[in-house]
Amino acid sequence: MPANNNVSHEINEISKVNMKSHEKNLVLQTKYNVTAYFYDILDYPWERIYRKWRPTLVGDLRGKILEAGVGTGRNLEFYHEDVELVGIELSKQMLSKAEKRIKKSRYKVRLIHEDATVMQSIDSHQFDWIFSTFMCCVMSDEIQKLAIEQFGRVLKQGGRFRLLEIVYSKNKKIRKRQDFFTPFVEKIYGARFDRDTLRHIERSSNLKVTNTSFLKDDTYLLIEGIRV
Ligand SMILES: C[S@@+](CC[C@H](N)C(=O)[O-])C[C@H]1O[C@@H](n2cnc3c(N)ncnc32)[C@H](O)[C@@H]1O
Repeated sequence: MPANNNVSHEINEISKVNMKSHEKNLVLQTKYNVTAYFYDILDYPWERIYRKWRPTLVGDLRGKILEAGVGTGRNLEFYHEDVELVGIELSKQMLSKAEKRIKKSRYKVRLIHEDATVMQSIDSHQFDWIFSTFMCCVMSDEIQKLAIEQFGRVLKQGGRFRLLEIVYSKNKKIRKRQDFFTPFVEKIYGARFDRDTLRHIERSSNLKVTNTSFLKDDTYLLIEGIRV
């Protein structure tokens, strides 16, 4: 194939990947625009557990923070007053729920309707922290990689990230329960237990994982690291 043809073939392939990602994001967006109306009620049994973790997860974050996939804003009340927060969210309906939750906040905060896989409105190298809970696990591996690339772009060098995700357990009993809930969590949240977030970050050229731990059993995986 002549060089020019090679280049246009590559451009076509990249466009196809972008088009597919765009379509997948649209599916997620539509799902969450509907789920938003009953998200907090549906999530209540799990939120009773998460609520105990959230203050610790965000309490020590300082500086300029990007929270990706803020959802209905469950983390927002726990940030320290010395932070400057930008929260991004794909679904306008989820975002409008989060907006109600920032009314009493004592820190500087801006919530934006923005796609974490593109971050078109976000300048590079400006954040001290990227924080996210349960966003990557709702993304297919293909679009997750795009979000992880964006994390690397918008973090300052030396900036840190902390992500909480759900993964499959190795414990047979827990795994059986997860298998039981799989159709439900996929249908309602687009979430899956087999997303490979940790591996995608480990393969990234500018993000380095410094610590992994489980918050409960071997299913709630906390991934922490640094922009090198
Ligand atoms: C399972 S919810 C978690 C919400 C919140 N972080 C929490 O802990 O309750 C996942 C959220 O990620 C959002 N999301 C999914 N893909 C996104 C993207 N590409 N950009 C921004 N937000 C996204 C969804 O709209 C949804 O609100």
